Amino acid sequence: MKEWKEICALSDIPVLGSRRVQRSQGPQVALFRTADDAVFALLDRCPHKGGPLSQGIVFGNKVACPLHNWTIALDSGQAQAPDEGCTAKFSVRVESGQVMLCEAELASIGLEFEPIKAGPCTRSC
Ligand code: FES
Repeated sequence: MKEWKEICALSDIPVLGSRRVQRSQGPQVALFRTADDAVFALLDRCPHKGGPLSQGIVFGNKVACPLHNWTIALDSGQAQAPDEGCTAKFSVRVESGQVMLCEAELASIGLEFEPIKAGPCTRSC
């Protein structure tokens, strides 16, 4: 039986938008909310070159990657033809307006990838 972790309220995820979930290791998890309030969770890492899917455009049950516009199915993580590849998906449960993710999946899926690093350059030029 799955142990579920409360992440946020459904209303914390913008309609046709996303929210990122930080983990202690590995890339973040991207939560997506569709126009009809379905919620999906994918590793925040495009199967093409690792772009942040959470920054993409949600349409229908898909997201367009912000880097090179691959289309990824939210329910499977599968890239749409003619592109090929798949990003990991996470189980989601929405109950009484609360969005929950599976504890075991959060602790295990996608840990082989480095977290996406963003922010100001720290090197002196
Ligand atoms: S990294 Fe997503 S389409 Fe290239």
